[in-house]
Amino acid sequence: QSAKTADQGKVLRVGSETTFAPFEFQDEKTKDYIGFDMDLIKAVGKQMGMEAQVQSMGFDGLIPALEAGNIDVAISGMTITDERAKKVNFSKPYYKSGLSMVVKADNNTLKSFKDLEGKRIAVQIGTTGASEAKKIKDVKVREFNNAPEAFIELSSGGVDAVVNDLPVNEYYIAQAGGKDAKIVGEPLNSEEYGIAVAKKNTELTDKINKAMDELKKNGEYEKIYVKWFGK
Ligand code: ARG
Repeated sequence: QSAKTADQGKVLRVGSETTFAPFEFQDEKTKDYIGFDMDLIKAVGKQMGMEAQVQSMGFDGLIPALEAGNIDVAISGMTITDERAKKVNFSKPYYKSGLSMVVKADNNTLKSFKDLEGKRIAVQIGTTGASEAKKIKDVKVREFNNAPEAFIELSSGGVDAVVNDLPVNEYYIAQAGGKDAKIVGEPLNSEEYGIAVAKKNTELTDKINKAMDELKKNGEYEKIYVKWFGK
C-alpha cells in the first residue's frame, strides 16, 4: 500500500500497436484507444495509483521502445515467447490465444494449415503468425505493418490466406467487415499474452502482477473480459 501512495498520479507510459481489435483499436468517433488490453492496462494502472497513457507504435517497435526506456510497458496482444523473454520481462499471462488461418469465404481448397504448402500468406510483421507462417514448406510470406492490411490483401486476392491470432480473426469476420472471409481448420497452437516490461524494471513487473491478482480477486478482470468477449 505504501508503494501505491508513492506512485499516486504518476503516468504509466504504455506502448501498443493499436489496430488489433478487440484488444486495441481506435474508437471511430472519440479517437480513443479502446479494447480489452486498453481496459486492462487502465485498470492495472489505477490499481497501482498510476494513469495509463497509450502511445501507438509499430508492433516490431514495442520491444526496442521498452529497451530504450521510451515506454514503461507494452500491452499489445503480445504472446509470451522464449525469444522475447530474453529481451523483456513478462507479467503473468492474462489471456489465452492461438494462431488460426483465414481464407476467402468461397475458397473450398484450403481447409487446414497443411494445405498452406506452396501458398501465399499474409501476416503482420514481427508477430508469432509471421514466424509460424515462414516455417511452412515453399510458402511465400508477405509481411504487412498491421493485421487490417493483411486482411485487405486477402480480400483483394493478393494472398491465399492470413495467419493471425484467432480472437482477432473472429472479431474481423464477425464485426469488422470481413464478410468475404472465413476461419478454417483448428488453431495451430496455443499462446498466452503478457504485459511486457523492460528487463531492468523488475519492480514494475512485480507491481503489475500484484495489481492483476487484485483485479482477478475483485471481479474487475472478469468484468472487462465479459465486456469484450461475452461469457
Ligand atoms: N500475438 C501475436 C504476437 O505476439 C500478434 C500480436 C499483434 N498485436 C498487435 N497489437 N498488432 O506476435
